[in-house]
Amino acid sequence: MKKDLLKMNDLSKEEILDILNLADQLKYEKKHNIIHHHLKGKSLGMIFEKSSTRTRVSFETGMFQLGGNALFLSSSDLQIGRGEPICDTAKVLSRYLDGIMIRTFKQKEIQTLAENSSIPIINGLTDDEHPCQVLADLMTIREYKNSFDGLKVCYIGDGNNMANSLIVGCLKVGMHFSIASPKDYTIKDEYLTLANEIADKAKVNFTLTTSPKEAIKDADIVITDVWASMGQESEAQKRIKDFNGYCITPQLMKGAKEDSIVLHCLPAHREEEISTEVFEKHQSSIFDEAENRLHAQKAVLVKLLK
Ligand code: CP
Ligand code: NVA
Repeated sequence: MKKDLLKMNDLSKEEILDILNLADQLKYEKKHNIIHHHLKGKSLGMIFEKSSTRTRVSFETGMFQLGGNALFLSSSDLQIGRGEPICDTAKVLSRYLDGIMIRTFKQKEIQTLAENSSIPIINGLTDDEHPCQVLADLMTIREYKNSFDGLKVCYIGDGNNMANSLIVGCLKVGMHFSIASPKDYTIKDEYLTLANEIADKAKVNFTLTTSPKEAIKDADIVITDVWASMGQESEAQKRIKDFNGYCITPQLMKGAKEDSIVLHCLPAHREEEISTEVFEKHQSSIFDEAENRLHAQKAVLVKLLK
């Protein structure tokens, strides 16, 4: 039976670790020019309803490195843009392709696509989730910290797609998680319930607060994301006001552990969610994180499409 990656919770802890181990191996092989054409002759369709730099380039290059090919499909060029139902598109594309990666708005849309496709569907970002980014984040954390056990991750900012997928992924692999968001921008109740369930099972702590200072205390990993996500551009000015005090500054970083690392999925808005100084100081981990999109997604593609 085909397997989809629609949300972070589609993966068990074991499946996450399997993907990360394969990602490490593929990264090693790439650095040592060892050919790994696991997907020779396979095609991935990439549907984009929102902009992208990292996701598009890393998936396209990743498929090429795996011996397959990738097709960039802008939704405005597809017949979807003229009203063809997603269920028909799914059935047709399943006859040509071996997998689809889609970046879209509603989680429901990607679910409909998956229900009507006979090939694996991969979430390349929706309003609710960004699982591929979180696999790259976990890979980066393990590279810097060697293990996940008992580490504390702190996320400061909007309770958005990144927050949702991070919470699920980090708790599952055995890290504590604290999140600080302004009152009107916290994660949805369904993710709060899920977070508490996963934390109980994994015997780790999950805390939700409005205080960045409280959340960051003794953190090993500090993560943030933009305050206005794609599709929320009209709210950007209001959000700048509402998120006052949630910028990751050197002063705030004093609360984290001395050897803490900072991650940001990018694109970053310096002097909004992260100060220029903190960004520059932690740019190695941030750009390693961006690179790891390539390796982590190649592992996902091998696991799902091979
Ligand atoms: N982090 C991320 O998904 O980047 P893009 O929007 O450039 O793909
Ligand atoms: N939360 C951001 C992530 C971008 C990669 C957005 O959805 O725009």
